[in-house]
Amino acid sequence: MKALVLYDSLGGNTEKVAERIHSTLGQGGVESEFVKVSGDTDLDLYDYDLLFLGSPVIAWGPTNTMRDFVMKKLSEYHKTRIQPSAPLRPGKFAVSFCTFSGTHIGENEAVPLTKWFSSFLGHLGCQVMGEWNIVGEFHKTEEPNINGRLGDIRGRPNEGDLLDVENRVKGLLAGLAGWMA
Ligand SMILES: Cc1cc2nc3c(=O)[nH]c(=O)nc-3n(C[C@H](O)[C@H](O)[C@H](O)COP(=O)(O)O)c2cc1C
Repeated sequence: MKALVLYDSLGGNTEKVAERIHSTLGQGGVESEFVKVSGDTDLDLYDYDLLFLGSPVIAWGPTNTMRDFVMKKLSEYHKTRIQPSAPLRPGKFAVSFCTFSGTHIGENEAVPLTKWFSSFLGHLGCQVMGEWNIVGEFHKTEEPNINGRLGDIRGRPNEGDLLDVENRVKGLLAGLAGWMA
């Protein structure tokens, strides 16, 4: 099984989550590529069996770099690979993830982004196995980290959050045991 952890991160929170996903995949015997998206990223997402797509939540959406990458790929694959009904491709799985602060309306600030990722991944014929919304502190300004809808989120994602991510990856791999080769 070949995995790709593709993410963006402006301040390092999402990178921590992505790193933990990647290292746990490696421990589980899965060959994993770890890529921070950039304007030059040119990967064929159809090359992978297990895709992880992640970004910080920026105004309920992805970063501009991640949005541009996804839209570029969507346009490319619409011309070549994506079919009506988006037939599931056997053995192709994906997880959407993000970090978010939830300052104003809690986890509902993260849901649109991971749903958006899942919609894209579903178009590729992947079975989406999870939408992981991980709390991440707001950088630079302290007030949203204390008085937001999620309470005190200073220092997050912390080791507990990352352990949770690790356990989710382990659980996912256990669930995909029948597809491991
Ligand atoms: C410009 C900007 C806009 C943001 N917008 C939101 C938002 O709409 N909802 C939310 O929950 N968090 C928002 N956040 C908080 C980030 O999603 C959160 O701090 C995240 O963990 C940052 O991840 P990173 O360190 O990987 O960049 C915003 C942060 C920035 C800098």
